[in-house]
Formats: sequence, structure tokens, C-alpha cells
Amino acid sequence: MAPDTNRPLQAEAVAITGRAPEVGAGCALTATDRFAPCTIVIFGATGDLAHRKLIPALYNLFCNHGLPEPITIVGCGRTALDHAAFRATLHESLAREGTTDFDCWPEFAASLHYQTMAYDAAVDYEKLGHFLADLDRSRPTGGNRIFYLAVPPALYSPIAAHLGQAGLAKEGPSADNGWARIVVEKPFGRDLDSATTLDRVLHANFQEHQIFRIDHYLAKETVQNILMLRFANAIFEPLWNRGYIDYVGIVAAEKLGIEHRAGYYEEAGIIRDMFQNHMMQLLALTALEPPSHFEAARVQDEKGKVFRSLKPFEVEHWPENLILGQYGPGIIDGRPVPGYRDEPGVRPGSATPTFAVMRLFIDNWRWRGVPFYLASGKRLARKESRIVIQFKNVPHSMFRNVLVEAIAANRLVLGIHPQEEISLTFQTKNPGDRECLRPVTMRFNYYQGYQGPALAAYEKVLLDCIGGDHLLFWRQDGVELTWSFLSPILEVCEVCSMTDQRLHTYPAGGYGPAAAHPWMRLLMDEK
Ligand code: BG6
Repeated sequence: MAPDTNRPLQAEAVAITGRAPEVGAGCALTATDRFAPCTIVIFGATGDLAHRKLIPALYNLFCNHGLPEPITIVGCGRTALDHAAFRATLHESLAREGTTDFDCWPEFAASLHYQTMAYDAAVDYEKLGHFLADLDRSRPTGGNRIFYLAVPPALYSPIAAHLGQAGLAKEGPSADNGWARIVVEKPFGRDLDSATTLDRVLHANFQEHQIFRIDHYLAKETVQNILMLRFANAIFEPLWNRGYIDYVGIVAAEKLGIEHRAGYYEEAGIIRDMFQNHMMQLLALTALEPPSHFEAARVQDEKGKVFRSLKPFEVEHWPENLILGQYGPGIIDGRPVPGYRDEPGVRPGSATPTFAVMRLFIDNWRWRGVPFYLASGKRLARKESRIVIQFKNVPHSMFRNVLVEAIAANRLVLGIHPQEEISLTFQTKNPGDRECLRPVTMRFNYYQGYQGPALAAYEKVLLDCIGGDHLLFWRQDGVELTWSFLSPILEVCEVCSMTDQRLHTYPAGGYGPAAAHPWMRLLMDEK
């Protein structure tokens, strides 16, 4: 990924603020030009997430003047490295990830430092504190710090506790303490109990406003757009309810398998990996009531109401509402690929689901009785995340005397990724002397008519964290509500794994298990 150094982020800030006359109205003020200097401490700095996502995002932002001045980046890890060796490994990773322009590397590298640490040694956190204070004297950042936990989830609690004990979570106006923030990535626990335990440790050391729980889906442009589409247009909202909508579909289909993550995936499975986080967020954004203001707390409140209104999953009737699958061998892009059980690191006979489609209901005034189909799976025919709003048929057809076929209902599809487009299908008259209708689709691509730069998801997440904006992050009540909704489904998965029953095998490269095809047809436009 080459940083596009021609795309000045300051200019972007102007574009987003709407202060540039050519952009016009409709843009909110961003915090880009109000960011305070800070230090970003990355735990797990020698790991995959840091090298593949965080450092490329920071480098791009830095090259495009998108980060505050000064910025200090401190990598922490168990591997013994000095600053120079750390910088060299990051340079290599940037090149491997596709960066070709290293013009601003020398300046960026000057902001990079490394601290070797044992995560369970209190003394190392004290050393870290001293090191940060020393750095602050040469590059003053007002003691503002972000602690980014790019480490396995089992380390979240011990690191948070040690940061607290070392006084690094304290906020205050002293020279050594500005603000302090901690960033954790999903999974937030593996069930309700572990999520509340993790939260207790985080809250014993940090306050809620200091905690940033990342879900990278929320930073996708197309996901951010859901609220804009719904509440900045008058034409959709009056129809956005049980009176006009037949069903809603939310899909995250992937061609990839589990890659090299068997250790993690065997424990997680599709429900913990995709549903407890990304799918639930897409559901909430699609279903929520208009928040009173476009601000984090108000949006989170409305999401919470959706989660609270989810009709509890009836385990006795689960086969009617849930289909679980696991990929077998198959063909992807013309290449044979192994089945899940043959992936390196997967237990022989594993019954971990890699596919799920569920039908659920939201018991509230707006949605009562409307089925929401949520589907996600690995090794499917194509990569596509989308939200389908299927409208009801016209109540009465005045064309019934002349038309043989029923009139297909309207359909709105919000493409999330990689098809970043909105499409609306409606009926028109076929040109010519015969009376017949045909469905046509109007398409809008998000980048149509837009010349400016776009932020990659991790760039957006990092900037929001620096700016202290929680809008695109999870709040703990949402985490707990979704775990509790999904608990019975996780129990079904456990039973499946013990008995291997009801876990349908599907060939890689298709649309999931045959039993799921009727639902998948509703969602994927496949015949
Ligand atoms: C991650 C999951 O959170 O999201 C992965 O752990 C999944 O298993 C990925 O592949 C999908 O993200 P995206 O942005 O490619 O749809």
C-alpha cells in the first residue's frame, strides 16, 4: 500500500468541515485540526496487527499531515530489540505491505521508539512510565497517551491492571499526565461472564470515557453512511418499518478460509468471530430509532434499545431459526482448497461452525414480525458484505388483467464491502407497444463524484481515538446485551460440537449448506 502523499489530510479536514466552498454544505466539523499532541504506545508491537494495520495506517496519516504535532510512537513487546532494529522491522513490513514511497520515512522513524517488556512484570511498567516521561521532555506531548493493546485478548486484563498500578491510567493536568486512553480489539470476552470480568478489570483502572473498544466494521465508510442514508433523507424513513418492509438481510460473506488462525478460530467459531460484533453492529444501525443527536452517547443509547428488544432466541425451536455449517474441500477462484478440518492446526473432527445464518426478530413497535436474516460464512463463493431491505409487494395490482407475472417488490441494497454501492430496484414500463413491466436497478457508488481522499478503517479508528470520539466504538452495555442475546446460540454450537449433529458441511466456493440456500437466495440475488 503506497501512501498517497498527494492527498493532504489537512485538505481533507477542510473538505469534511465544509469550509471549502466547492464541497458545499452537509459536512460536519472533524477534530483533525484540533488534535492534541500525544504518544501512542502499542503493546504487541512486533505482532501482525501492528505491522499489517497500525503502522501502515500511522505512516499514511503521518505522510499526509493527518497526525498531531508532535506525535510519539512507542512499540512494546517481549522480543528484545533496540530502537534501530525496531525501526528496521517496521520499514521492512511497510515495504511488504506495499508502501513504495519512503520520502517521509526518516521523519516518521524519528518518532518511533521501542521498549522491551515482560507483560507480567510490574517493574517493566514503571520503566515504561519513566521512559515515556523522558520522551515527553524532548518531544512534549502534554502527557497525552494512548495504550493500544495489539496483543492476544488473554493479555488485556493483566496489561490494563499493570498500567493502572503503575499510575499510567491516571489523567490530570500535571506535566506527566494529560489524558490516558486504552484501546482493545474484539473479541471482548468469549461470553457474557468473561466480558463482564474483562470489563471489571478495565474499569478498575480506567473510566468508560478512557476505553475504546474497536470494531473495524464501524469505521467503514459504507457503515458510517447507514445513519446518513436513513436520517438525512426524508424518503426512506417513512417506509423503514413493518408496514412496508418484508424482511431485512445482513450478510458478510467471505471467500477466505481461516488463514493461519486455527488456534483462535477453533475457540471462536463464526458466532464469536463475526456475529457478536460486526453483524450485531450492522443490525443495530439498520434497526435503531433516530438518536436525538449525532453523538456517541445518544447513538449508543439507541443501539442498546435495539439489542434489548431482540426477541430471545428459542432454543427449543432453534432448527427453524438457525443453520450452522462448516466448509469442506472445494474450489475457490478455480483452485482446490482444503476443508476446515484439513486446515493446519484444526482439531481432527472439529465441529466449529464456519457458517451461520439466523432468523431473528426485534420485538418493538417498528419491527414486530419482520424477520431479520443474518448470514456470515467463510469460504463462500464471493466476498460481499451487504444489507438488503426487501420491501413488501404493492397492496393491489391494477395491472393484473394485462400482466401474467406478479410484480416483484422493491429492493434496496446497501453494499458494504467490497461493492461500495447503494442500489434500488423498482419497476418500470418496458418501452414498446406491449404492456409489460421490468425491474430496473439504479446504482450509486460511494466514490461517484468524489475526488478527495478516503480514510482506511484503521486510519479512521486511530484518528477518532486521538480525538477522543467514541461514536464508532462499542460501549460496554452493547457488548453485554449482545453476549446475552447470543448465549443460547452459543449453547447450540456447544451441543453441535459435542454431537456433530446439525452441523451441515458445505463445499468451499458455494453459498453455504444446501439447507441454507433458500435463505441465501433471499439475500444474495443468486437464482
Ligand atoms: C474480522 C474477523 O473481525 O473480520 C475475520 O476476525 C474476518 O475472521 C474479518 O475475516 C472480515 O473483515 P472484512 O473487513 O474483510 O469484511
